[in-house]
Parts: sequence; C-alpha cells; structure tokens
Amino acid sequence: MSDLSVVVLISGRGSNLQALIDACADPGFPAHIVRVISNRPGAKGLERAAQAGIPTTVIDHTEFPDRAAFDAALSAEINKSQGELVCLAGFMRLLGDDFVGSLENRLINIHPSLLPDFKGLHVHERVIEAGVKSSGCTVHFVRPETDAGPIIAQSTVPVHDHDTPDTLAARVLEAEHVCYPAAVRLIAEGRVVVDDDSVLVDGRPLLAE
Ligand code: GRF
Repeated sequence: MSDLSVVVLISGRGSNLQALIDACADPGFPAHIVRVISNRPGAKGLERAAQAGIPTTVIDHTEFPDRAAFDAALSAEINKSQGELVCLAGFMRLLGDDFVGSLENRLINIHPSLLPDFKGLHVHERVIEAGVKSSGCTVHFVRPETDAGPIIAQSTVPVHDHDTPDTLAARVLEAEHVCYPAAVRLIAEGRVVVDDDSVLVDGRPLLAE
C-alpha cells in the first residue's frame, strides 16, 4: 500500500489537524504528515504537531509585502517537504490562483457546510438563520474560486430547533474529524479520480445523501 506524504496548513486551533494526526498514528492508515505549516506564530495546532513529533514551520503572512510573495514562500516550503497532498485545515488565508493552480488536485480543504451551500465565513449563523434542517461538512479539491471545487466527501448532521451557532459548530466539527481523515484515506488509496471537474470514487460519482 502506498504511504502518501501530507503537508497540513493551519492558522489556529488545529482540531482537524489532530484528527489527521490521530488517523496517521494507526499503522494501517496509508498516509503520514511530513510537515505542518502555520501562517500564525501562536497557532495552537503547532503545539499539537510538536507533541506528535511532526516538524513545523511558521510562515507569518504579516512579514510579506503581498500575497504572491507569501504564496511563493509557502510553495517553496511545501516542495522542500516533498508533500504529495496538501491539506488546508482551518487555514485562514486566501491563496492566489498561481499557487492553487500549481497544486491542482493535490490541494484539499474542509469546509463546515454542505457545499455548494453556505460558502464563506459565519456559516453556522447563516445556516440557522436560513432555517434549514440539516448541515454538515465537505472535503473538496481547491480551485481558485473560494469554497468551490470537486467534492470528495460530505457528512450530514441535523440542525435542531434550539441550536445556537456554537452547538451546531460543535456537531459539525465532530463530523469533520471523521470526514477529513476518511477523505485523505480515499485519496491515499488511489480511489479518487477527478473527471471533468467532478470526483469519482472507485469509478462512481458521489451519491447524494
Ligand atoms: C473548521 O470548522 C474547518 O471546517 C474550517 O475551519 C475550522 C478549523 O478548525 N475550515 P480547526 O482549526 O481544525 O479546529
């Protein structure tokens, strides 16, 4: 079985990073994390990586004159790490088109809604305001348009009448922690193919839940 090299990009708490670290600790998991990169020096996820013995790099975006220079530093670090797959896990910087294009179908993200619904920020507030009865999370390949790109995996959770953004976020986050490692596993096992900008898993399109 292949053992995919993964670089994880974070900006903060790193609970999805932790889920990936925990998954990779299983000897049967077909991927390992070679480096964690944060654009914020104080990100809690850096401690999680250090505790797991994973090398970390801080590339502080405030030290770069513009996005292109920041993206170039990020690219250089990813290349140096020989990461085959790059996972955005709460990485809060927009990435330029050149950066995204250079990692086509090697760059994935997790978003706390059922895309294409509720792209962008403040997702749980908007989900509750909209009055929808279910939400969830999505793992997708990254494209230049924010929160767009071929969907690899989704997981649905109910929205309860009494939910606040915090209670809903906690329920979705639990689903994220299962969904992200599951998507990385599918990719590492070579079961994911991007066909005409949609994903086939084991040769079949994703089923609507
Ligand atoms: C998650 O909700 C993820 O979907 C979104 O940012 C949050 C990151 O949380 N992109 P964490 O840093 O992984 O705990």
